[in-house]
Amino acid sequence: MRLAALILVGAVLLASCGQTPAAPVPGPEPTATINEIMKAMITPMNNAASNLPEEITDPDTPEGKAKASRADADWQAIHDAALALSEMPNLFTMEGRKVAAPGVKLENEGTPSYLTAVQMEDRIRSDRTGFLKHAKAMQDASLAIAAAAASKNVDALYDAGGKLDESCSSCHAAFWYPTPTK
Ligand code: HEC
Repeated sequence: MRLAALILVGAVLLASCGQTPAAPVPGPEPTATINEIMKAMITPMNNAASNLPEEITDPDTPEGKAKASRADADWQAIHDAALALSEMPNLFTMEGRKVAAPGVKLENEGTPSYLTAVQMEDRIRSDRTGFLKHAKAMQDASLAIAAAAASKNVDALYDAGGKLDESCSSCHAAFWYPTPTK
């Protein structure tokens, strides 16, 4: 019995011999601030997703054909921009993401109708559920734009575009103004 236990301990020691504990691998971390993500990534993607594809007039003429093929590329560009937009909420809601770098002046900063970056950070921390809810609304609207573009549905595109705008302004109203309106 004792021998068996000794053999077992020996086997375990042998198995772990020479193995150093795995060093933690540093993964990616949040680097850009929310302010930078909004300006450098969300704004251009939002503009690209808000374009309407070219009118397809006469696909039987060479000019019409050229326009029609450009329209396909336009729909694809809208779809791709919306897809990128749909991933932005995953980025800007990452734990540890700062609102703005120290010293960076936000739009309208210092006016009584807007919170400072530090105040916004406090509010995001204390109402994380609300922040995530607005972020999810933005993601849903972006995915609806992508779906409308995939099926080339102009009405659905307009509808989803309205919802996207609403998702931007309602989050800004809730987290950027001293008295949240929503
Ligand atoms: C879940 C919340 C949330 C959503 C959704 C959201 N934003 Fe923002 N936005 C913020 C916060 C917080 C800031 C930080 C304040 C700042 O940078 O001035 C910000 C800042 C900005 C700024 C920078 C303003 C400046 O100071 O220069 C722009 C531009 C912007 N957002 C555009 C958008 C657009 C466009 C959308 C929708 C497609 C959007 N945001 C959706 C929370 C949100």
